[in-house]
Formats: sequence, C-alpha cells, structure tokens
Amino acid sequence: MIYTYADYQQAVAVIQSKITVQPEIGLVLGSGLGALADTITERVVIPYDTISGWPQSTVPGHHGQLVVGRLEGQPVVAQQGRAHFYEGYTMQQVTFPIRVMHLLGVKTLILTNAAGGLNRAYRVGDLMLLNDHINLLGMAGGNPLIGPNDERFGPRFVGMGHTYDAGLREMARHVAAEAGITLHEGVYLCLAGPNFETPAEVRMLRGWGADAVGMSTVPEVLVARHAGMRVMAFSGITNEAIDVVDATAETNHEEVLDAGKVLVPRLTAILRGVLRALQ
Ligand code: HPA
Repeated sequence: MIYTYADYQQAVAVIQSKITVQPEIGLVLGSGLGALADTITERVVIPYDTISGWPQSTVPGHHGQLVVGRLEGQPVVAQQGRAHFYEGYTMQQVTFPIRVMHLLGVKTLILTNAAGGLNRAYRVGDLMLLNDHINLLGMAGGNPLIGPNDERFGPRFVGMGHTYDAGLREMARHVAAEAGITLHEGVYLCLAGPNFETPAEVRMLRGWGADAVGMSTVPEVLVARHAGMRVMAFSGITNEAIDVVDATAETNHEEVLDAGKVLVPRLTAILRGVLRALQ
C-alpha cells in the first residue's frame, strides 16, 4: 500500500470535520497504556475505521480510536492503539497516522510502548525514557522512509543524532524526580516480532547496548523526525527478557497487559507534568 499525498489529506479532512480543538501535541499510546486518553477533556472520539486509509488495530489492549481534546489544557490528539509491522501492515501503513498528525498541525510527538527489559537493573513496572534507539527492523529493510521521497513531508536523508529531544527529556527527568518516580534513560531496540526473543537473541541484543526491546515506536519516530517533529518516547517495562533456555517463566502478552496497569498511573503522572511544563 503506497499512499499519495491526497490520501493523507483525505484522512485529515475527515478528522478536521469532527474536531473542535486543533491539536499541537500527538500521543501514541501502546499496549495496555491507552487508559491515559480516557482522561482527555473536551474530547471527540474518532474510531479508526471511520478514517480513510487508517490502519486498524488487531491486537488485544489496543482500542483502535483517536481521541482529540485537551490534557492539562494542551490541545492533544491521542492514538489509543497503534498498528504494528507484525500485523501484516506495510511500514507506510504503520506510520500513516504520524503523517496525518503532522498535517493536522502536530509539532510535538510523545510515544509510549510496552517493552521487555534487557538492562539487568530494570524491573517490571519501571519506566524508561528513550535517549536513543537501535533500528534492527530498519537495518533489515523495514524502514518507512524507503521508497520515493516526498519533499512535502521532509528531506531524503535524515540525521539521527538528536532524535529524542533533549529539552523534553530534561522536562521528563525533572517531573519524574519531583513525583518520586524512577525513570531510567536508555536505548530501545526495535525488532519485527511477533514472537518474543529467544534467550540467545536476548543476550545478543543486550551485548549490542540495548536496554529495552519491543516491536514498535521506531518506524513512527523516523517518520516524525523526517517531518521535523519534536519527539519524546517512553518504554513501560512489562517483563524482564529471559536470557537462559529452559527457564520456568515464559514471556506472554497477558503479563505485558497486566504490567500496563501498574505503568499507567506512573506514565500519566509524568506525561501530565510534561504537558504542564510545556505551557
Ligand atoms: N520483547 C519484545 N517486545 C515486547 C516485550 C519483549 O520482551 N515485552 C513487551 N513487548
């Protein structure tokens, strides 16, 4: 599925016809983390299946709707659930919502995901602020910027030395410290999924310098940076990646969703604090 510029504009027109608040901040809420959007005020809810071109969410824990309104007074658009490459979507479909948000006027994008902890210091329920990433999926050819470049969105080549905005990270650190919430800062590694990693893969990824591993976020970040958006992202550590064979525990999606319940209040406190600080 290759979209034309008109496809993005058509989705924007559908959304514009329904909203009353013009969003400037975009939120992408990952597995089990969608509850934050329930607290948005002056809300307009737009199901994904009413927006032309928008990929549907097929994974439990992803609602599949856009919520537009205000959070801490800020005009926001929140994606309650996202599409992943492993669902069979193309990279263009996975990142379609980001370009639509960009055309809607979103300048700052905040993404969240559920991730496995590779760093031995990370525990279930911890939060990690991304300061960098390793795009294993992209290195293997799964990069949404592959293909003809549309200069209306951004340049052919994109530098990645300032991907996760330093100012936003500073704000997040400050808010977390004030609230007494542990906030790690580290490197997120994105792979395709849908299977979890083998123990040998876990050991390899840790050796590469990754602190958390997951199946999302990076494609969206690339498209956002291509369009010049300011980006911040958080991983909620939902499980500790298993690095030995024949361990008694086995990673599963239920534990990922369960950990989301602990993570949502912490993440909510930090995101609300950052939104307040942005005013
Ligand atoms: N690996 C990959 N993706 C994940 C994990 C994991 O351990 N936990 C949540 N998403």
